[in-house]
Amino acid sequence: MADSDRPTWANSDRPSWADDLPRAAAILRRAQRVAVLTGAGISAESGVPTFRASDGLWEGHRIEDVATPRGFARDPRLVWRFYNARRANLRGVQPNPAHYALVELERRLPGDHFTLATQNVDTLHTLAGSQRVLELHGNIRRVRCSRCDYRADRQLEPLPDLPECPECGALLRPDIVWFYEPLPEAVWETAYLAVSQCDCLLVVGTSAVVHPAAGLIELAKHHDAAVIEVNLDQTAASHLADVSLLGKAGQILPQLVAASA
Ligand code: OAD
Repeated sequence: MADSDRPTWANSDRPSWADDLPRAAAILRRAQRVAVLTGAGISAESGVPTFRASDGLWEGHRIEDVATPRGFARDPRLVWRFYNARRANLRGVQPNPAHYALVELERRLPGDHFTLATQNVDTLHTLAGSQRVLELHGNIRRVRCSRCDYRADRQLEPLPDLPECPECGALLRPDIVWFYEPLPEAVWETAYLAVSQCDCLLVVGTSAVVHPAAGLIELAKHHDAAVIEVNLDQTAASHLADVSLLGKAGQILPQLVAASA
């Protein structure tokens, strides 16, 4: 980035991350293979709520009730109402500058030298134009049958409270990975390999408490990759980060990607 392009801040406005940005940019510039792990925080500036509110509830619901196979078996109507409300909330939601910055980063690196693993089910990375996206926790636009192999992309169309499989008549469920369920095997293996081989793991907007996804950060360290964290606050993974940039992803990522070009 040319000096004239660098942002200038009045001293009182200068964000704390600005001091650490050059170090993070130097790491990213040197990296030949980059992996990225994102969480709900990257979509916060698009208006998608994050999960862990201080009351421990997800929009008023207990995780056990709306995001476990047991909760679905007990009260599928409640679970579908919850996900239908989240599907409706996504209508009109657009990617933000953080998502677009990752598209730009991917453009700079050859094919399999960039991998974006996301815990988000909102599909905003794909909407922004990212190509190599691994959806670790599924995709809220898709449904799958709770009995047969049927899967379909239903976009954000309103679904009934108890949608049925067009092939076998059983109950459909969101194509989302719930607690106590395994991650999709091929997706997880690809993410695991990419993180094992990367020189730099960029961790954006995740509290890093949900496993196995959060374990990718330790995996990167284990393979001597540098870890750059971008988050509003310190997280469970901050002690593993070589550089922590504390602030909004939508402000930091565009600057980081530009400064590392
Ligand atoms: P969380 O809600 O646990 O954490 C969101 C993180 O984003 C927090 O660390 C915030 O500090 C940070 N954050 C918020 N706004 C931000 C911003 N503008 N810029 C940067 N950081 C920001 O979300 P996840 O870590 O994604 O799983 O949660 C992981 C998984 O837990 C989710 O995928 C979901 C949930 O259970 C399933 O649904 C299976």
